[in-house]
Amino acid sequence: MAQPNILIFDSGVGGLSIYQSVRELLPDANYTYLFDNAAFPYGELDDTQLITRVTALVSAVCMQHDIDIVVIACNTASTLVLPQLREQLAIPVVGVVPAIKPAAAQSQYKTIGLLATPATVARPYTKQLIADYAKDCHIVSVGTTALVHMAERKLRGEAVNQEDLTAILAPFAATTDTLVLGCTHFPLLREEIQQVLGESVCLIDSGTAIARRIVSLTATLNISSVTATTSGNHAYATATPIKADALSDYIQSIGLTRVSYSPAFLVRSLHGL
Ligand code: DGL
Repeated sequence: MAQPNILIFDSGVGGLSIYQSVRELLPDANYTYLFDNAAFPYGELDDTQLITRVTALVSAVCMQHDIDIVVIACNTASTLVLPQLREQLAIPVVGVVPAIKPAAAQSQYKTIGLLATPATVARPYTKQLIADYAKDCHIVSVGTTALVHMAERKLRGEAVNQEDLTAILAPFAATTDTLVLGCTHFPLLREEIQQVLGESVCLIDSGTAIARRIVSLTATLNISSVTATTSGNHAYATATPIKADALSDYIQSIGLTRVSYSPAFLVRSLHGL
């Protein structure tokens, strides 16, 4: 049976947390993973630059691989670029945004923490989510790039520094019963975060909800044109990452291919930006 070609996009390794959730439900789909590490971290990138890069890169991969569904597995990008991307592409584009709504619904004491990148915390989109779904909650927001770097290092085999992690999470201690992991890098540190905050704090991310959404979308797609050249798994990066071999080993261990760095078709798509 023909399987859908799913593109999962992020600035770095964060989207792999989404890839793993989706793959659990759709093990036979074809996956392409693209990360824009040349412009990492997105949480500190200028808005216009972010929109231009994401639309150029995602469009290029969609053409190269006959993609059926795009997943912007990055809260920082999704809270900004979804309207432009949807205008540009004729296929479904699924975004990942902070899970404020489920967190507000399930928080017992209406005390929610939002852990995201500095850009996501400041975005009008995120403020609107809070206004729409969590008006009755006390919200503590922390925007951190340090934690994004920590997740990147962990996937390259480096130990997580408990002291640094405890300092980043300090604002949530005793103020929060439910913490939204509003950056796709952070579920990769779930166990370490849970250990610091204790079992009484409920951690919420968007992985499972996104995976269910993709399952229901694939059921509505007419996938008949998958060919030998466009199917299969692929991994691309826009630059050679630090500790490239360790990272590539990890990426292969979860079912993708070795990463191809700055392939010509991606370089061309960024030309002149
Ligand atoms: N993983 C991304 C997110 O979900 C962003 C990390 C970054 O590049 O700052 O927001």
